[in-house]
Formats: sequence, structure tokens, C-alpha cells
Amino acid sequence: METSKRLIIDTDTAGDDVTSLLFGLLWPGVRVEAITTVMGNIPVEQCTANALLTVERAGRSGQVPVYRGCDRPLLRPLVQAAYVHGADGMGDSGFPPPAIQAEAEHAANAIVRLVNESPGELEIVAHGPLTNLAVAYMLDPSIAGKIKRLWVMGGSCHFRGNITPTAEFNFYVDPESARIVFEGGFPITMVGWDVCCRYALVGGNDLEALKAIDTPIARFYHQVNRKALAFNLANGLEGVTHPDSVTIAMCLRPELIVRSGRYRVEIECQSEANRGFSAVDTRPAPENTPAWTGAGPNAEVVLEADYRLFYRMLTAVLQGDFGAFSNN
Ligand code: RIB
Ligand code: CA
Repeated sequence: METSKRLIIDTDTAGDDVTSLLFGLLWPGVRVEAITTVMGNIPVEQCTANALLTVERAGRSGQVPVYRGCDRPLLRPLVQAAYVHGADGMGDSGFPPPAIQAEAEHAANAIVRLVNESPGELEIVAHGPLTNLAVAYMLDPSIAGKIKRLWVMGGSCHFRGNITPTAEFNFYVDPESARIVFEGGFPITMVGWDVCCRYALVGGNDLEALKAIDTPIARFYHQVNRKALAFNLANGLEGVTHPDSVTIAMCLRPELIVRSGRYRVEIECQSEANRGFSAVDTRPAPENTPAWTGAGPNAEVVLEADYRLFYRMLTAVLQGDFGAFSNN
């Protein structure tokens, strides 16, 4: 099948990131040019090992280079989420180390190089703290205009946070990097925690049906997401959340986006109580007032997605059967 999508996936590889990597690595017509790892859910060394293991489990060893990236936020002390995903980020599965190795080049340098080698052709799917993207931008600001689209899993639009009442984890961990990226002129589509909770939470009979899929990929999926599922159930979310994979699914099938809008998004970096909060200006006619002189829109913000279509895509990935999507 001809290549229809060329992707870089930037990831702080824990269970939900793994699900997104499987979409990219297995979906027909998609070429993952690179996986770049960044600290976040767990330390970057573990993120890198998890990404390499996922490449192996997807049967893509030797085909998809993995580049290790930033091991800390720009300014803040590292905050991690092993309490959600397990110490290994993989549901405390105790997997053996991967046989394949990461590349020697730093992720930020790899992003700059790859984008300059193929201007206008690559889409980046970023579902970790945005530190690698911010460092890449500081190395070469021109990349912002050379990326076809930057899909960001992060923030929250008029909805609660997850790590604090107001902030989503990826923006909380490195708010300065998120601000650099959102001010840098990238063609951003933002998929927030609100979209994940409303349109990509799989539980009940739908989750039971996924548990009945008897393939190695499906067993891997359930294993690496098992701790996060237990965390969700103990914290009022009745199923597996898919923030990262719903983001890449929108990249692969934009019709998954039911409603979105171009808005100004500003990332809070001053307040300690609300660090990482994503202020989305959805006012119909944002007039400049003494209290708000925000510049124009800087992101396409997803507001609504098609749960049933996402669920069909997730089922196809776990079954390894993309027949239902072959005609488009
Ligand atoms: O807030 C959810 C996001 O933070 C997901 O990308 C999860 O993997 C963590 O990185
Ligand atoms: Ca992630």
C-alpha cells in the first residue's frame, strides 16, 4: 500500500502512548519516520526502552528508528506518573529489555534534521511533555513552518485537569515548553483531556469485547494498560482512557473530529496553583480589552470526537484487521 502519512511520534512511552505507537506502526499506509522519546510518565531511559519494545512487538524492528530525548523539563523539577502506569510505565509487566537499540542522535536534533530533509511532508504527533519540540524549535525556529501538522495531546478546554484541578499532565510537567511551542507558529491541532474523557474512554461491554480479542497485540495492549485502568476505576473513570491514541487516530482519520475551532490558547507559567493550565479563548468575537490583548488564534482545538469510529479503529488495530478501513 502506498504511503499516505509520514509521521514522527514524540512520546513519554507508557501504556497509553504504547497504544498510540501501535496505531502508527500498524495502520496501513503510515510510515513512522521516527519515534522520539521524552521524560514524563517515567524517566526517559524507560520511555526509550518501552518505545523500542513496542517497535519489536509491532514487528517493525530495524524499520523505525528511536531517538532518546530530553530527560528533564526546561526549568521545573521532574514530575512523573508511575503512580498511574506502574514503575515501568507498562503496567509493571517486567518485560525483558528490548533487543534493538536507540539511535545515537538526540531526539531534538533528529526532529530538526528530519523536518529539514522533508519540508512540508511530515506530521508530528506529540503526546508527552513538549520539551523535545521546544528544544528543536530553539535549535531551528524555521521548523514551525515546515511541519505539515503538529498534533498535540495536551491541555484541557473548559474542563478539569488530571494532575491538578486545572492542568493536564503533559502541560503541567513542562509549561514553559508548551508555551514556546504554542507561541512558535506551529500548525497545531490540540486534543485535550476533555476530549479523552468524553470520547475516548472505553469501558463496560466495549472493554469486555476488546478483552475477547485473542491476538498478541491485544494481549500486549491490555497488559501495558492494566495499571492505568485500575487507577482510573479507583478515581471515577469507568474504563481505559486513550488520550494519546485518540490523538493519532485523528491524524490518521481526520473525520474522527466532529467539532473543533481555531482559538487562542495560552499556557499558564506564572501561577503555581494553576501551572500548565491551558486558557482557550472561545469567545465568538474576542475584542481587545485592557484585560486581554491576546494575539490571534494559534491552534485548532478539538471539541468533539466520534467515539464509535475511534472504537472501531482501536478494534482494528488490536485485531490486526483493517478491512473496514481499506476503501479510504
Ligand atoms: O494527561 C495525559 C497525558 O499525560 C498522556 O499523554 C499520558 O501518557 C501522559 O503523558
Ligand atoms: Ca503520553
